[in-house]
Amino acid sequence: MVLVSGSGTNLQALLDASADEAFGARVVAVGADRDGIEGLTRAERADVPTFVQKVGDHATREKWDEALTAQIAEFKPDLVVSAGFMKILGPRVLGSFSVVNTHPALLPAFQGAHAVREALSYGVRVTGCTVHLVDAGVDTGPVIAQEAVAVQDGDDEESLHERIKTVERRLLVEIVGRMARDGWTVSGRTVRLGRAASRS
Ligand code: GAR
Repeated sequence: MVLVSGSGTNLQALLDASADEAFGARVVAVGADRDGIEGLTRAERADVPTFVQKVGDHATREKWDEALTAQIAEFKPDLVVSAGFMKILGPRVLGSFSVVNTHPALLPAFQGAHAVREALSYGVRVTGCTVHLVDAGVDTGPVIAQEAVAVQDGDDEESLHERIKTVERRLLVEIVGRMARDGWTVSGRTVRLGRAASRS
């Protein structure tokens, strides 16, 4: 299942990929932390069930974490993909499911919600995207895959983010497909994909 907060183009890439059975995964549900976003519309268009759990509808962040966990559990997902989900997940969700996140920078550089803006204002010449497992920190979990994207003269946040997202969508689809088809193992901070990895 996929968690979104915005336009949902990464979600769309997963929906498109899962149209082919050989992909090995399908999106069983889409959850959001807010209404009225394009990500939810994309799910509805694909006939995928949706739900919204807003932090503000719960007395505490812990209650939100509990409600989100219960709602995700209804769909019994093998994997939860955070694809532009702009909330820090709580300990219950993280203790109950394997969660993968996609981030628009080469972690550990530029963690947090404004990665592209911060990379630009730092003046890096190369940035990129990271697919990683989510742990209790903010963008600190074990890295699964990364790809570099060059910053071009004259880039603004929007143009750079769009180029990153083109790479990011392809990388996310590739990694989620491989995880679904072949499994993965984690040893310390090292994530290995593949059947051999699952056996070792
Ligand atoms: C993606 O670039 C994703 O990496 C980023 O939001 C974008 C969502 O795009 N996530 C973060 O910045 C999380 N810190 P999308 O809604 O079109 O898939």
